[in-house]
Amino acid sequence: MQTPYYEYDIALLNSILSTAKEEAQRYSYKIHYALKANSNHILLKEIARQGFGADCVSANEIRVALENGFPANSIVFAGVGKSDSELEYAISKDIECINCESVQELEVINQIASSLGKVPKVALRVNPNVDAKTHRLITTGLKENKFGISLKEAEWVFANKNNFNHINFVGLHFHIGSQILNLEVFKQLAIVVNRIQKSLGTINMPYLNLGGGLGIDYENPLKNPVPNFDGFFRTVNEHLIPGENQTIHFELGRSLVGQCGKLYTSVLYVKETFSKRFAIVDAGMNALIRPALYGASHKIENISGGKSDELFSYDVVGPICETSDCFAEDATLPKTSRGDILVIHSCGAYAESMASDYNLRERPRSVYVGIEVLA
Ligand SMILES: Cc1ncc(COP(=O)(O)O)c(C=O)c1O
Repeated sequence: MQTPYYEYDIALLNSILSTAKEEAQRYSYKIHYALKANSNHILLKEIARQGFGADCVSANEIRVALENGFPANSIVFAGVGKSDSELEYAISKDIECINCESVQELEVINQIASSLGKVPKVALRVNPNVDAKTHRLITTGLKENKFGISLKEAEWVFANKNNFNHINFVGLHFHIGSQILNLEVFKQLAIVVNRIQKSLGTINMPYLNLGGGLGIDYENPLKNPVPNFDGFFRTVNEHLIPGENQTIHFELGRSLVGQCGKLYTSVLYVKETFSKRFAIVDAGMNALIRPALYGASHKIENISGGKSDELFSYDVVGPICETSDCFAEDATLPKTSRGDILVIHSCGAYAESMASDYNLRERPRSVYVGIEVLA
């Protein structure tokens, strides 16, 4: 098959979704799939079919969620910079909740809702100043981050609710970051949320959303394809004190789809320079930008078997004219030659959805295995 391409294992996706759903149902938690992780339509249809809600960060994501079977009343809309037309669209579609990130946004929502004769449900995204202890660039819940509104402003909003007569305030929203493997972080979040709910008096409101962020095992994807949903939900349940009538919502992206996707790429050239041995492949950072963007690492395998048992160290790099177009520095691989196929694992999340046509390269197409499980 012509490389590069993404391959999605739909059977694995289904088993991950079932586990997540089962663990969440223990506590009557509701999961919204974060479309930003991957908005591939085949995956979306499957996720919607399994009964997940959707978490969107643009009007286009809302439209795509609706087109792929997510009911409007299961869609939540976050984002620090929603445009007027995006808000108009979201409000006109009667989605489940708008997670609002600033006082000014609240004023705009109120105006637009008034002009449309609507009273949308709105939650305030509060910045809890909790360190997600993950990569700096995927940390969103520290006070220096652009996301959410401060506790002080949230207090002001709830004290002045009557200024916003076209808004139905339903509760609070939080999201502190991504690729979080340390469950202690979610404990801290739950404890801080308890404190914030107390000081804002939101415990009697129906909606409490703790966001996403659960990480996956990039080092051992084959051994651990299913993320630790059990530990994640159990930790939240042990430490969160919700109101009696509160539904607890989550927005999981990476943990639901990250391990079901792989990127297949061919070795174009192998070259040795002064101090390095490069395996130059036909997929570039336009197909998988995480290593260039965050220094992220993915397990890479030579599935052509290599030409001997001897192992060598390669920088696996793409064809794009950027030094950052590098999937791995000093990856240990068997002797690798022109024409070998490499698999880059854990590409189900933030790969296809972040793809671009930089250098006017074509985006990889997608193929599916385990598809017979689709109804
Ligand atoms: C508001 C919001 N919710 C949910 C997510 C999904 O996060 P993850 O893919 O880590 O579960 C993100 C991603 O950063 C986000 O910004």
